Order: sequence, then C-alpha cells, then structure tokens
Amino acid sequence: MKSIAVFTSGGDAPGMNACVRSVVRNAIYLGIDVYGVKYGYNGMIEGDIYKMKSYSVSNIIQRGGTILKSARSKGFMTPEGRKKAFEQLQKQGIEGLVAIGGDGTFTGANLFYEEYGIPVIGIPGTIDNDLFGSDYTIGFDTAVNTALSAIDSIRDTANSHDRVFFIEVMGRNSGYIAIQCGIGGGAEMVMVPETATTVDDVIQNLKEGRDKDKTSSIIVVAEGEVHGNAHDIADKVLSELPELDIRVSTLGHVQRGGTPTAFDRILASRLGMAAVEGLVNGKKGMMVGIVDNQVQYTNFKIAITKSKPINEDMLRMVKILSI
Ligand code: F6P
Repeated sequence: MKSIAVFTSGGDAPGMNACVRSVVRNAIYLGIDVYGVKYGYNGMIEGDIYKMKSYSVSNIIQRGGTILKSARSKGFMTPEGRKKAFEQLQKQGIEGLVAIGGDGTFTGANLFYEEYGIPVIGIPGTIDNDLFGSDYTIGFDTAVNTALSAIDSIRDTANSHDRVFFIEVMGRNSGYIAIQCGIGGGAEMVMVPETATTVDDVIQNLKEGRDKDKTSSIIVVAEGEVHGNAHDIADKVLSELPELDIRVSTLGHVQRGGTPTAFDRILASRLGMAAVEGLVNGKKGMMVGIVDNQVQYTNFKIAITKSKPINEDMLRMVKILSI
C-alpha cells in the first residue's frame, strides 16, 4: 500500500486530532503517502483532499475538535455519492482509508468497502462510547470529565439552595456517559435507556432522601432515556412532589469540545498506529479497538450492530453510594 487517506466524520470528539496526528505520522514512518479528506464523506465526494506532511499535524495533539472538520453526510448515503467519492479517491491514487467516527461513519465505510472493495479501517471516535469492539472510544473520557466539572459546579448551587437538579448528559441511545457521571459526580440516581428505572422510582428515591433529611439531590439523565428528557421527567416529579425546588440543566455540546484528557490522547495515538499497521498488514472492513488493553480488530458489521452492554454493577454502585 503506497497511499492512504484519513478523515473524521459524524459528531466530533476530543482526541480526534491526536488520532489524525498518529495516523499521519505512522503512515509517513512506514513510507506511505497520506492524504487528509476534509468534512468527512462530503469532502470525499467533492474531492476536498490534500496531501499531508508530518508538520501538517504539528501542535494539534492537545486541541479539541478536528482539523479535518467533520460532517454527517447525506450524499454518501446514496449510490451516486459513493461512486463520486470512489472516483475522487482513484484520481488521487488512494488505496486505503482510515475512517475516524462512530456507527454512522462505519455504516458508510462498510457499504463503501463492500461496493468498491477499497480497504477501510475504522477508528472509534465518539463521546458516546457505544461501539462494540472497544472498551473505550476516543472522546468519551474527556466528555465525562467535562460533564463532571459542570456537575460539581451545579452541586455547589444545588446544595446552597436545597434544590433537586436533573442534569441531562449526551450519549445518544447509550447511557455510558450518564453512568460514569453518576458515579463520579455522586448522583442520587442515574436514568439510562438500557435499564427500566421509572419516574416512580425517582419519586420514591426523592421521598426516601427527604425522610433521611437530604437537602439536595442530583439525578443524571441520559439524553436517550425512554421516559423523556430531563425536563419531561422533572415536570412529572414536580407534579407528585410540588414541595420540591427542582431545576433542570442540559449540558449539551459543551461535552463535545475542549482539550482531550491524557487518556483520550493516548487511546487516539494507539488506535491511529493500529489502524495504519492493520491496513498495511491486509486488514480491511474492520474497526480497530482496545479490549482489555489489547488492540483488537472487529468486523464493521459486528461493531455497528452488536450492542455494548452496560455494567449493571456500576448502576448498583450509584444506588449504594447515595444512601
Ligand atoms: O454522537 C455524538 C453526539 O454528541 C450524541 O451524544 C448526540 O446525540 C449527537 O451527537 C448530537 O448531534 P449533533 O451535534 O449533530 O446535534
């Protein structure tokens, strides 16, 4: 393999830059030409592709966002879009791809690989940590730390005013961010889509807290929670317990930005290296991840379709630690 391209796609995640840096420098180290595709699949279709040098990725390891930019491409979901993208790659002589993103990115990458046979390796870059085949995804640790620092601040004001706070965190259909934040932030409860915690359970918990003279409480709600968003749940609780002083805070996109943690930079660097080495060694149509601290390659189809189970013990711990 003489020439590869790297791109970031879908929601950005802190640590993507560290990953691009690793891909670029590992490729150059192995004597492979490396191209950057801007704006994910949209840039591939438009031919927004440039040759990268070692210095193209200088001073980015500590930066959030992605220097390659990102997009959720509608065009690539069409056969015409993928054909155009393939033609653009051929024009540049690109023989392999490294796709950094989440399940949407890998769904496209898998189709592309099946239709055109172009070797693609995916790297899990998403704050959601929802991909089977890697214990952690790039950006998750930073997002949790960012959310935690916000939760710590909210705790101060919740405590001063004897308030109950419902704090909504991101994660799409996954409760990973919420669970970590619940434990790290000392929450009374965590509501995640993977479990059957009901609004009645929350009401019961708050009643018990009141009986134990708890003055303030924090409930972390995952954005994919099936009983509604944090506002919906807070409204239902308030209608049953009108004496409570309830506030809602939705943390939102603040969780997607910022300086990546050491963990994310190191994870990104490892995965970038494993992706390039995988391509060189003939791996394709796979996502590279870290499982039990070892590099592991998982077929795209499995990475996308198999759900990553949450650790029930972690949820049990939230309950025990908040008595
Ligand atoms: O997948 C990352 C993520 O931040 C999810 O947690 C969230 O549901 C979604 O992206 C938000 O997407 P957008 O930035 O397009 O609004």
